[in-house]
Amino acid sequence: MAKLVINDAKKQGRIAPEIYGQFSEHLGRGIYEGIFVTEDSGIPNVNGMRTDVVEALKELEVPVLRWPGGCFADEYHWQDGIGPKENRKKMVNTNWGNVVEDNSFGTHEFMELCRQLGCKTYVNGNLGSGTVQEMAEWVEYMTFEGVSPMADLRKQNGHEAPWKVDYFGVGNENWGCGGNMTPEHYANEYRRYQTFVKNLDENKEPIEKVCCGANVDDYYWTKDVMKTCFAHVEKKKHGHMDFLSLHYYVHPEGWEIKGSATDFDEEVWYKTLYKALYMDILIDRHGTIMDRFDPKKKIGMSVDEWGTWFTCEPGTNPGFLYQQNTVRDALVAGITLNIFNKHCDRVKMACIAQTVNVLQAMLLTEGEKMIKTPTYYVFRMYRHHQGAQLVSSELTGVEEIGIGEWKVPQISESASEKDGIITITLNNLSATDSHELDVRFTGDREYEVVEANVVAHPDIHAYNTFDEPWNVKEEAFEGYTLNGDRMKVTLPACSVVEIRVK
Ligand code: AHR
Repeated sequence: MAKLVINDAKKQGRIAPEIYGQFSEHLGRGIYEGIFVTEDSGIPNVNGMRTDVVEALKELEVPVLRWPGGCFADEYHWQDGIGPKENRKKMVNTNWGNVVEDNSFGTHEFMELCRQLGCKTYVNGNLGSGTVQEMAEWVEYMTFEGVSPMADLRKQNGHEAPWKVDYFGVGNENWGCGGNMTPEHYANEYRRYQTFVKNLDENKEPIEKVCCGANVDDYYWTKDVMKTCFAHVEKKKHGHMDFLSLHYYVHPEGWEIKGSATDFDEEVWYKTLYKALYMDILIDRHGTIMDRFDPKKKIGMSVDEWGTWFTCEPGTNPGFLYQQNTVRDALVAGITLNIFNKHCDRVKMACIAQTVNVLQAMLLTEGEKMIKTPTYYVFRMYRHHQGAQLVSSELTGVEEIGIGEWKVPQISESASEKDGIITITLNNLSATDSHELDVRFTGDREYEVVEANVVAHPDIHAYNTFDEPWNVKEEAFEGYTLNGDRMKVTLPACSVVEIRVK
């Protein structure tokens, strides 16, 4: 039988809350319709932000929101998205369906959304097609309190006080949609552009800068960019390079075919989970290269795009990346978040792609209706890990399961402690079988369960629809017995479980 030993006295580092971050791009119905509606749309809203969506996201305690892209970021000219709406320029969103972008959601609206969510702000700048001046002026517009052309313009546009920009991305995927650059070229550009992302108020925490990292397993990119940027910026005071990003999506059938979100067999179930587990290898390998330059781990890895990417729902615009979300997505989320927790010494931020109506979304909307996805409930359960201390958890005796070459361990886990409560998150990767797990706590005391919840479904294809919104949801979990410091857990097939003990 599989055994899990939890030693809560052995703390292994703080889990940055920002690992539970979100990403929302100007893509399909991600922002327009999904989050932002016109004030007279008939959909209840506060300053244009859908009340149902904001309320649902608040339950996740979203720590940080990344915006405006993605690929969109390197075509975005921020000045088009400020000032009176009727004067804002319309543009073509060339990355996502060539639709008209009317710029009605811009800097002020993003900051208002973050205010309503109570989250940190992660603004991604345009290095691919924007100028250094444009980037510098955006930072000035958002953050400068004193007298300057950009601060004055912000005030003229109705916002007297500056905002706090917590994180600033200097370009996005500059190896691809952000300019097709070589690592050497990007690294030099990064050095130049980041120089002008200034901390204009010495009394405030500096903006933390995110340098564009690799696509999946492009280790050359990591090496070259670290070599050129890290040594250079390390000599400077804090704030010149705080993160290196990593982007990795799970496409069960590869980039070209991708595969259906809802129609798959058991082999593809295991293939998907196998590919989700690859995140662990990627973090290890990129992390090893980062360690060579940055052994003290002064900068963090920001996995600011991750999640499942399937073939879009039949009948929808292929440029909108709208996909359903099954219990399989719940497993991908659970596995990936456990991996991030275990790598909390290096992974300091991560943003799932994307919050509403795009890729592995938390929420789906249709007109005034909104549903929560299985992934939403995983984020809700895992929120207790935010800011907690990772504790030692050792799993033994786990069987390998799967079909053909797609073999995975049956269980994934992580555990953390905050305010005297240990949160354990467990996933059963089996498509068919429940699994017994023996948990032992090493503290010399009686333990007590505070709460236990589960997201599971006997059908691997199960998902929520606008007609059946509660098919897959978070429910109270009763499959355990606790005796002193020993707990027996029966994990249902295809399940993500959270057990909290004190
Ligand atoms: O999330 C969708 C897209 O995936 C982003 O715009 C881009 O950065 C990535 O390739």
